[in-house]
Amino acid sequence: MSQDAYRLKSPSGKETELPVLSGTAGPDVLDISKLYAQQGVFTYDPGFAATGSCSSNITFIDGEEGLLMYRGYPVEQLAKSSSFLEVSYLLLHGELPTVDELADFESTIRRHTMLNEGMLSFFKGFRYDAHPMAMLSAVVGSMSAYYHDKLDASNPQHRDIFAHRILAKLPTIAAAAYKLNCGQPFIYPRNDLNYCENLLQMFFAVPAEPYEIDQVAAEAIDLLFILHADHEQNCSTSTVRMAGSSGANPYSAVAAGISALWGPAHGGANEAVLAMLEEIGDVSQIGKYVDKAKDKNDPFRLMGFGHRVYKNFDPRATIIRKMAHKILGRLGRVDTPLYDLALALEEVALKDEYFIEKRLYPNVDFYSGIIYRALGIPTSMFTVMFAIGRSVGWTAHWREMIGDSETRISRPRQLYTGPAKRDYVPIDKR
Ligand code: ACO
Repeated sequence: MSQDAYRLKSPSGKETELPVLSGTAGPDVLDISKLYAQQGVFTYDPGFAATGSCSSNITFIDGEEGLLMYRGYPVEQLAKSSSFLEVSYLLLHGELPTVDELADFESTIRRHTMLNEGMLSFFKGFRYDAHPMAMLSAVVGSMSAYYHDKLDASNPQHRDIFAHRILAKLPTIAAAAYKLNCGQPFIYPRNDLNYCENLLQMFFAVPAEPYEIDQVAAEAIDLLFILHADHEQNCSTSTVRMAGSSGANPYSAVAAGISALWGPAHGGANEAVLAMLEEIGDVSQIGKYVDKAKDKNDPFRLMGFGHRVYKNFDPRATIIRKMAHKILGRLGRVDTPLYDLALALEEVALKDEYFIEKRLYPNVDFYSGIIYRALGIPTSMFTVMFAIGRSVGWTAHWREMIGDSETRISRPRQLYTGPAKRDYVPIDKR
């Protein structure tokens, strides 16, 4: 904590000192935890845009500089040189693993990929066209019913087992949801494959013929998972922390996070971007849609544009933009019309005064859907893919929250604007 403090004087002259806390990076924060006790007022900050809800040493974002770091490592370096499981180890344990630690971790994750066989029967109950995010959230919630044997949240080993199960089993659950949607038989995980290879075979293999893993696809997914792995106190992660702060079962807390991620203002944007590009349809229509996005009376927004924190550029979007061209080229699908349309739309929006003035730039989701589409992953699965990558961030934050002595149940206050106290009116007098 720094020595500085802000002095707040109420209209009646009562003074309070608000201590200033300094982190290792980023702006200082005012500690207002004693404000109500000393001044009798709360703060008002809809959407928590100016409120720090906890201290965390996992991820740092500088929205002005377009900087994203996991445990201090810039995401560009991790995207270039690391793997998703190595990044997962880093997020969960705070340090990059040694060769042996990584081998151990990878082997643990491989050995937890199967589901309790009873969980598969859930998929028989869903309609063939159920949205995979609905299935993911429901089945991950059901893990609290299957895996309660090792769940003493105060036991660090149990917290590890929870994290390993989430990371290992999410691709299996996602693949089961996908197979239900396609009407194909469920494909079991294979422990001889790495994380993303295994995901691809569970998604795309069929029992009738051998399946050849596409290494370009596996590498592309690994990269997207690295970029999605964590993003500090975003909506879904804050939801996991909030649900978990009551002492709720952590699998249920992750299920809550999956539900929060599904919204189009958050992880659902990758699906919404593709729907939007399909609706725009042609470069000649871009002007019309950019005008719609600028019209205050039109609810249409350019999906994949804008971010609560990034105000100059989203570093993940920069990496994906570069990768999109490379990956589409290597897959032999660089002529994807939607990719061309996305590039043209980006060019128009970036030169438009409205987007410049409001500092709206393409975010990570503007390009991720285009890559997933090129890999043959259907649009309804895009947010599921995001959830698999983000699952490690959720578990890292849940573990940090549970182990933090400052954690209290999350319980914000409000500015009440309803009716003042009044007396009940009997029904015959209304
Ligand atoms: N298209 C058009 N106008 C926009 C857009 C957009 N995509 N995004 C923001 N604006 C405008 C708003 O209308 C608002 O205008 P005003 O000041 O005249 O009222 C101004 O820019 C500020 O936007 P807010 O919505 O207040 O910003 P906030 O930080 O609350 O929202 C959000 C950020 C939700 C990402 C928003 O930009 C948005 O809806 N973008 C489209 C959805 C999207 O791509 N979401 C993915 C986010 S990344 C992720 O979750 C992985």
